[in-house]
Amino acid sequence: MRLNHLVAAILILFTLTAADGWAQKAKSTMQKQEWGKTADGQQVYLYTLSNKKGMVAEITTYGGAVVSLKVPDRKGEFADIVQGYPNLEGYVTDKGYFGALIGRYGNRIAHGQFVLDGKTYTLFKNDGDNTLHGGQRGFNKKVWTAKDVSTAAGPALELTYLSPDGEEGFPGNLSVKVVYTLTNENELKIDYSATTDKDTVLNLTNHSYFNLSGQGSGDILGHELMLRATRYTPVDSGLIPTGELAPVKGTPFDFTKSTAIGARINDDNEQLKLAKGYDHNFVLDGKMGTMHLAAEVYDPKSGRVMDVTTTEPGVQFYTGNFLDGTVTGKDGKVYKHRYALCLETQHFPDSPNHPSFPTTELKPGQHYHSTTVYKFSAR
Ligand code: GLA
Repeated sequence: MRLNHLVAAILILFTLTAADGWAQKAKSTMQKQEWGKTADGQQVYLYTLSNKKGMVAEITTYGGAVVSLKVPDRKGEFADIVQGYPNLEGYVTDKGYFGALIGRYGNRIAHGQFVLDGKTYTLFKNDGDNTLHGGQRGFNKKVWTAKDVSTAAGPALELTYLSPDGEEGFPGNLSVKVVYTLTNENELKIDYSATTDKDTVLNLTNHSYFNLSGQGSGDILGHELMLRATRYTPVDSGLIPTGELAPVKGTPFDFTKSTAIGARINDDNEQLKLAKGYDHNFVLDGKMGTMHLAAEVYDPKSGRVMDVTTTEPGVQFYTGNFLDGTVTGKDGKVYKHRYALCLETQHFPDSPNHPSFPTTELKPGQHYHSTTVYKFSAR
């Protein structure tokens, strides 16, 4: 009997030591696979980034899109929490900017026009009378060049793209670099940088559609949202800012205290009606250019939490108002009305036509830099 106990104890000890060694050995890794070719013959890749805690992100060189993001819930169970497509074709035909890098100008430019240094620049109008998310073929439709730049912080993927002078009507050869890092602290960190050889304007962001219960699993109206924003930019019927920085106090736009997204979304409010829900830029209280908390999203169902910190002055909060069940994505999921939310960190929409907004101009010799971190936890 005694001997049996001793053997059992030794076995348990051995198993625990082995398990511990195994856990320590769980490494952050990066894998690359071919993911098809575009119609003009460009090879596209899919990269799989895994961190030490088992979180996994898939990123494609087509549009630099985040294809999937697997995050643990309060029980430690992983689910993919971003909308996306199972293959390249989905991204080529996509009209919702799922997971993609957005440029040169995130969100809208009124009447597809702006004046810079006294010269009028004309853009393609792809959103009624306005230009949205870069025009006809924005950065979300370009094949980016990838490089593994992993560090001790976690696997990291560098994507670069050279946007030629005049592309989509924007001036200057723009050299853009985006680094995605999946840190071992369960953060998806996105660093954007750019330089130009002529005066230009730019506003880069990422357009991931989040559902913290799992992609395609239902609407996000029960998610609770906190936005560090005491003001927002009201819009006209084309969703172009009027120029006013309006207080959120006393309106359905007040998310300074965590509130369910669905609590007031159908209120009798002109701004909500114009956008068919939330699709507005919030003016962040934090200091532009330094990392500050923009938003916290909590899903009571799964316990997943997403904190968004950024150097940007604004964030577009969009509740998937244009999702209508006509798109089928990964795992055969159908994306219905308000099945996901976007928090697109950015400079304010239509800034080139609003001199009172923080400037989006970039000149030769200057370095554009912007960072946003989506941090995941559970409670
Ligand atoms: C942004 C815009 C929305 C919509 C989506 C993409 O969030 O503000 O109006 O265009 O992108 O569908």
